[in-house]
Amino acid sequence: MLPRHFLTLMDLSKDELHKLIARAIELKNMPNNNREYEPFKNKVLAIIFQKSSTRTRVSFETAMIQCGGRSIFLSTHDSQLGRGEPIEDTARVLSRMVDCVTIRTFEQEKIELFAQYSKVPVINALTDICHPCQLLADIQTYVEHRGAIQGKKIAWIGDGNNMCHSYMRAACQFDFELAIACPSDYQPNSDLLNETKANVSLFSDPSQAIKGADLVSTDVWASMGQEEEQTKRAESFAPYQVNSQLMALAKTDALFMHCLPAHRGEEVTGEVIDGAQSVVWDQAENRLHSQKALLEFLLC
Ligand code: CP
Ligand code: NVA
Repeated sequence: MLPRHFLTLMDLSKDELHKLIARAIELKNMPNNNREYEPFKNKVLAIIFQKSSTRTRVSFETAMIQCGGRSIFLSTHDSQLGRGEPIEDTARVLSRMVDCVTIRTFEQEKIELFAQYSKVPVINALTDICHPCQLLADIQTYVEHRGAIQGKKIAWIGDGNNMCHSYMRAACQFDFELAIACPSDYQPNSDLLNETKANVSLFSDPSQAIKGADLVSTDVWASMGQEEEQTKRAESFAPYQVNSQLMALAKTDALFMHCLPAHRGEEVTGEVIDGAQSVVWDQAENRLHSQKALLEFLLC
């Protein structure tokens, strides 16, 4: 039987995604943070990261440890991948040894190629074009604070980047309205915009996009791999800073989210990210619970 993968949010059905969020909340609320529940006993997760990570790496490793399994971390620098061993060969070898593989890299095509040759589930831990695991945590966090996200208005302010793309897919899968505000040179992928147009609208003016929003989300202006563009981007994105004046245009009970790491004083002010509407610490914690639910779905 072919393994299930989680390369984008479209790899699970709407029903599976809803159940997974409910399960993440259930696992979080198990006594003692479910440390006596060991569904991953004797299972091994390989974690292959070509980019830096704090939350994603630690949440995957902790999820495996708390649920009775183990993980092996491989950076591309010290595995043979860094010396040119083909992805296809690495996938064939690793998937004869481990039970699941999670990968963080640049090109989505690399993860797809790995999955094509893998006998075990492959999870996208972030690529240049999407970050589906983060959206599981974001939706869980919204549901915990406000109930169902269906029919709500979410504003994405800033770069049309990997996070923005996953919000676009989430808008379709969880049936919410997504209003994106970004500079003209930094818009999301046009094919994806077309595909998701029933749920997604694009603005250049952040005050238009944020008006009446139930949730406001943003991300860094220069993602990993774009560090050299930082100065140029800072100029274009300055009007897109999420500050108190902008937040005041959202609903009075609107939540603020940021996948982190954040740059206070750039895409968000300290007043907003450290303020009463911000749920970023719950959001970060939920990476652990939602990925436990994802691993359980794929492994058990
Ligand atoms: N949000 C997120 O993916 O964080 P890390 O880059 O620290 O894993
Ligand atoms: N857009 C950011 C997300 C980090 C979690 C990046 O790719 O660097």
